[in-house]
Amino acid sequence: MVNKQLNIGIIGLGTVGSGVVETLEKKNNYFKKKYNLEINILGISAKSKNKKRAFTVKKYKWYNNPLDIIDVKNIHVIVELIAGSSGMALKIANKTLKGKKHLVTANKALLAVHGEKLSELAKKNSVNICFEAAVAGAIPIINVLENRMLSDNISNIYGILNGTCNYILSQMSEKKISFNTALKNAQNAGFAEADPYDDISGNDTAYKLVLLTNLIFSTNFKSKHVYLEGITKISNIDLEMGHKLGYTILLLGISNIKNKIIQLRVHPCMVSKNSLLAKVKNELNSVVLEGDMVGKTLLIGKGAGKKPTAASVISDIISFENYKQRKLEYKKEKNLSFIGGNINERKGKFYLRIGVLDKPGVLADITSFFKRQKISISNMFQLEKKISGYVQLIFVTHNILERQLISTIKKIEKLDKVKTKVNVIRIENSI
Ligand SMILES: NC(=O)c1ccc[n+]([C@@H]2O[C@H](COP(=O)([O-])OP(=O)(O)OC[C@H]3O[C@@H](n4cnc5c(N)ncnc54)[C@H](OP(=O)(O)O)[C@@H]3O)[C@@H](O)[C@H]2O)c1
Repeated sequence: MVNKQLNIGIIGLGTVGSGVVETLEKKNNYFKKKYNLEINILGISAKSKNKKRAFTVKKYKWYNNPLDIIDVKNIHVIVELIAGSSGMALKIANKTLKGKKHLVTANKALLAVHGEKLSELAKKNSVNICFEAAVAGAIPIINVLENRMLSDNISNIYGILNGTCNYILSQMSEKKISFNTALKNAQNAGFAEADPYDDISGNDTAYKLVLLTNLIFSTNFKSKHVYLEGITKISNIDLEMGHKLGYTILLLGISNIKNKIIQLRVHPCMVSKNSLLAKVKNELNSVVLEGDMVGKTLLIGKGAGKKPTAASVISDIISFENYKQRKLEYKKEKNLSFIGGNINERKGKFYLRIGVLDKPGVLADITSFFKRQKISISNMFQLEKKISGYVQLIFVTHNILERQLISTIKKIEKLDKVKTKVNVIRIENSI
């Protein structure tokens, strides 16, 4: 005999939403036995009622207007799986919380933009926002952070937070295929959206980084505070050169904290081929948390896809009652007041690739700028093959301040014999 009944409404029946319905149909008996809990779907909604879905739509009560589901009296939890930082997703979130119902969502864009306001609304109405699936798919990172499983002062977060980008970079590197072919393969395999802009531009990673950073440091950063570079400028030649130098190229979301200054950045990084993160291939996601007592802790798992994401959504549905503290709450304690840092103040190594005319003296001209700016070079070579008719020069710097490098690059790019923009990739040695 089951003594707990949980009534839910599901809005959005695409990849994740239909995965949630299918899994609940399959596992409801298991949840009854294990958790003494029966989950009842009292309403569903999406854009089109007649679309072919992986489950029988007729079994459930359909609502043409998703907002009407929230009015159903005995529904306890609304599961929003639509997407978008505003529009209908925001309306659903506001109405759900104002109506004193709990909200489960996988929508990182919504929370990265409106997290603080929604959190205040949830608090005012004594309900919760659960969002395990919004960051790193199946990896239970939100659970780890909220339950203080790492009772440590975390100083650095490094994350492979976008399965599409990781898949593209892995495939380009391993199969020596172009960016466009790798993107097409990702779309065919169901890892990338038809419109991949948010993924490849780094925006999606920035949303997730903001959520993790705010949870850990009780800050209120928004994605506009994140330094952002996507992966479109990464070419096969950079992956090949990285490999030759002992590095793998990854798109990382990084939050570093030093003297109460947090630097939030998303950009392609060269990391040592021997580092743990370099082993995280294809659509997998990973988060490294670094604390002063425990050192580095790495979590790894499937970052996207129907089943992994549905599993996280369902774990939120099952356990929301146990997580009364589960709120996106920014405490703004005085001694925890961090400010955002400027990437120009980052100190580290850099990989540079420059396309130049095949003329004598060009190398001497470039290195003279490095010498004047006291930028020492640890590695330098010229590729045998030309790209678009230009000789490719590769440099690896020692540790320098980013602003020092940027001003030098501007001068180098003005040289007549330099024919391309300098392609810069940051090297992260501490992972
Ligand atoms: N896919 C993943 O692997 C993954 C991983 C982590 C997090 N997420 C997040 O999970 C959420 C859902 O993603 P998804 O991949 O499942 O998206 P999706 O496949 O595009 O599905 C979106 C669903 O929302 C419905 N919808 C869109 N606009 C609507 C509106 N105005 N009113 C009512 N219904 C509307 C669509 O209806 P129709 O079906 O009728 O078109 C569709 O069922 C997003 O926030 C996403 O960022 C996804």
